[in-house]
Amino acid sequence: MTRKRTAILISGRGSNMSALIAAAMAPDFPARIDLVISNRPGAAGLERAQAADIETAVVDHKAFETREAFEAEVQALLEARDIELLCLAGFMRILTDGFIATWLDRMINIHPSLLPMFKGLDTHQRALDAGVRLAGCTVHVVRPEMDTGPIIAQAAVPVLPGDTAETLGKRVLAAEHRLYPHALALYVTGKARVSGERIVFHEVEADGEGSLMSPTLITREQADA
Ligand code: GRF
Repeated sequence: MTRKRTAILISGRGSNMSALIAAAMAPDFPARIDLVISNRPGAAGLERAQAADIETAVVDHKAFETREAFEAEVQALLEARDIELLCLAGFMRILTDGFIATWLDRMINIHPSLLPMFKGLDTHQRALDAGVRLAGCTVHVVRPEMDTGPIIAQAAVPVLPGDTAETLGKRVLAAEHRLYPHALALYVTGKARVSGERIVFHEVEADGEGSLMSPTLITREQADA
C-alpha cells in the first residue's frame, strides 16, 4: 500500500492535527503526515507536531504583502515534499480561489457544526441560540465558498440541558478527533469519492438502522428502574 503524502495546515492549538498524526502512526493507515505548516509562529500545534517527530514549517502571513505571495511560499514547501493531500485543521486564513483550484479535490477541512448549518465562527453559541438538539462536526472537501464542499463525514453530538458553548464545544471537539482520521482514511482510499458536488461511497458497509435522538427516548419502565 502506498500511503498518501499528507500535509496539515494549522493556525493554533492543533488538537485535530494531533489526532491525525496519532492515527497515521499505525502502519496500515492509508495516509502519512509529512509536514505541518502554521501561518502563526506561536501556534501551540507546532510543538505538538515536533514532539511527534513531524517536520514543521512556519509561513507567517504577516510577512507577505498579498495572499498570493503567502500561498506561493506554502505551495513551494508542499511541492518540495511531493505532498499529495492537504488537511486544514483549525487553519484560520482564507485561501484564494487560485490556491483552492490548485488543490481541487485534494484539500479537506474539518468544521465544528453539522454543515450546511452554522458556517463560519462561533458555531456552538449559534447552535445553542438556535435551540437545535443535535450539534456536531463535518469533514468536507474544500471549495472556494467558505465551509462548503462535498461532505465526507459528519458526527452528531446531542445538545444537553444546561450546555454552554464551552461544554458543548468540548464534546464536539472529542467527536472531531475521532471523525477526522476516519474521514481522511475514507477519502484517501477512494472509498469516499467526489462525484459532481457530492461524495459517493464505494465498498462502505453502513449500518442504516440506528438513529441518534436528543433528548434520548426513555420509556416509563426505564425511568422507574
Ligand atoms: C476545531 O474546532 C476545528 O473544527 C475548527 O477549528 C478548531 C481547531 O482546533 N476548524 P484544533 O486547533 O484542531 O485544536
